[in-house]
Amino acid sequence: NRAKMVIDKDFVISKVDPRIYGSFIEHLGRAVYGGIYEPDHPTANELGFRQDVLDLVKELQVPIIRYPGGNMVSGYNWEDGVGPRDARPTRLELAWRVLETNAFGTNEFVEWTKAVNSEVMMAVNLGTRGMEAARDLIEYCNHPSGTYWSDLRRQHGYEQPHKIKTWCLGNEMDGPWQIGQKTAEEYGRLAAETGKVMKLVDPTIELVSCGSSGSGMPTFPEWEATTLDHTYEVADYISLHQYYGNRDNDTANYFAQTLDMENFIKTVTATCDYMKAKKRSKKTMYLSFDEWNVWFHSNDQDKKIEPWSFAPPQLEDVYTFEDAILVGSMLNTLLKHSDRVKIACMAQLVNVIAPIMTENGGNVWKQTIFYPFYYTSVYGRGLALNPIISSPKYDSKDFTDVPYLDSAVVYHPENDELVIFAVNRHLEESLTVEVDIRSFEGLSIIEHVVLEHEDKHATNIIGNESVQPHVNGQSTIDLTEGKLMSQLPKMSWNMIRLG
Ligand code: AHR
Repeated sequence: NRAKMVIDKDFVISKVDPRIYGSFIEHLGRAVYGGIYEPDHPTANELGFRQDVLDLVKELQVPIIRYPGGNMVSGYNWEDGVGPRDARPTRLELAWRVLETNAFGTNEFVEWTKAVNSEVMMAVNLGTRGMEAARDLIEYCNHPSGTYWSDLRRQHGYEQPHKIKTWCLGNEMDGPWQIGQKTAEEYGRLAAETGKVMKLVDPTIELVSCGSSGSGMPTFPEWEATTLDHTYEVADYISLHQYYGNRDNDTANYFAQTLDMENFIKTVTATCDYMKAKKRSKKTMYLSFDEWNVWFHSNDQDKKIEPWSFAPPQLEDVYTFEDAILVGSMLNTLLKHSDRVKIACMAQLVNVIAPIMTENGGNVWKQTIFYPFYYTSVYGRGLALNPIISSPKYDSKDFTDVPYLDSAVVYHPENDELVIFAVNRHLEESLTVEVDIRSFEGLSIIEHVVLEHEDKHATNIIGNESVQPHVNGQSTIDLTEGKLMSQLPKMSWNMIRLG
């Protein structure tokens, strides 16, 4: 099995916006309580934040984190989560049917994101609430002082405004599961007016208009066209959400699902550009892929959880080796579309469909999907290049012409470093890749990191993290020919770094 690639430093797609390595913390399951916040934990700091979790999140270098939901935000009263803790009410949280004590809220999250060197991406409730609550929240967070809500923030101990720049206008408002689901017309009008008012309070913010909850929604892509007709001028981004899963244990088909992700991005981009033409607008709408991941392992187990408990173990997918390969391929897809995708959030970050897992009161560990995210986030910043690929292909149940080689490339002009992210989708055979790198001079191999495993269902559990990358990848460079030769093991994710 052989594939070829041409990489040229002039084939620039875009400068990668680091925010494509964003993530998401929702008030759901043990993401907050028992995840990032556990005052009784031996490593907790004076704010109740788990230091062991802070350390792993910092390793991932996540620049922006969406909060507080998700489905939860569509029933959330943000006022419940600010001010003295003993006065905060416990509520029925209807999205996930649990109890919400509100011990953790907006100000704590702002503090927590600072501790992990990240920014907040705040969602407002457009389910049970609307314009007024959104206006008050942004005044509370971003207005300096001298008004009711900004002075309340100061009274709560936050003298300086939080200056939250990025705001989501609701969450998945097309979904029948959403509290306060809306038609595209209803949502479009509400989002446009809410966004207008929010920008009156703080014109420096950026807004994300809700796209479809997934490419499989019956209303996709009409939802995008109708809602953008209302929100095009006020919003800066439109959201995309997509989760995949290997429900039929058909790995070849599973690995091909990034072709669907690619189509999804292309269709949303085309819809945005149609609206740009229709409105004779000069503005380009960008994409915020603010929920993406693998999610299916925990579905059955979640049905057994009794309602109205506090912080139960919901959506605790235990990820396999093959899930890590797909996650690597999803990251490649984001990089390949970095000219339009400017924000993306892996959903989610801790315990809930997450790369980082904790035990209440105990240890922390890395799931399989931690690794492709870590390497792509750390080394995938710079200029995304468009590799010209010729690869053998296969057909699967839902896809035709799936290339065995999936790759994205990032170039760092400041230190002349070239980073190739490559997945071999073949389940049985390794792939020899011949890469033409003639436009670069004097490169040598810094490292070839490989994530491979004999057992595609292998998982990382506490005390036994059997899925881990190694650095013994096989790559050689022929400088006179300007060629890199790399062996990608069967079913593997690779990062080849040259400099
Ligand atoms: O991330 C889990 C859930 O998936 C989010 O709450 C929702 O937005 C989506 O359906």
